[in-house]
Amino acid sequence: MTPEQVTLIQQSFSKVAPISEQAAVLFYDRLFEVAPSVRAMFPEDMTEQRKKLMGMLAAVVGGLSNLESILPAASALAKRHVDYGAKAEHYPVVGATLLWTLEKGLGEAWTPELAKAWTDAYGVLSGYMISEAYGAQAQAAE
Ligand code: HEM
Repeated sequence: MTPEQVTLIQQSFSKVAPISEQAAVLFYDRLFEVAPSVRAMFPEDMTEQRKKLMGMLAAVVGGLSNLESILPAASALAKRHVDYGAKAEHYPVVGATLLWTLEKGLGEAWTPELAKAWTDAYGVLSGYMISEAYGAQAQAAE
């Protein structure tokens, strides 16, 4: 990821922050629509979950310019996800849903450059999380 991409992501995320609650509702509604099988893995009441997701995304976005600083938290998060029942093959649908949500939330501010920056960032993060949780082989299969 280039420094320009990191700046683009941070600027775009700051526009989502004021609507983070609605963005999280959009995200999970969409996720459960495109991947209904994962619904049962989550609690019925998603209020806390929405806050946790947006908080974690804020921490990751904030740490992008110093990737090493967020790797320990990302590794621990990935390992907790094994217990939640998450599989390596779930990561792409979560990524696609995240991009879809950002596109909806940002409207006209969503550009091809921004899409590429977020795609690259999610690729780096999810690739790292998958290899931490399931080993390098699972990551290579993605
Ligand atoms: C980069 C990708 C992801 C991020 C940033 C993320 C973030 C989070 C966070 C912050 C939590 C709160 C609990 C904790 O911190 O341990 C959580 C819980 C959870 N996530 Fe993720 N997640 C990601 C990918 C996934 C994927 C691919 C799945 C697969 C379906 C998934 C399913 C879940 C489930 C089932 C829970 C627990 C709900 C509960 O029992 O409370 N997540 N996630």
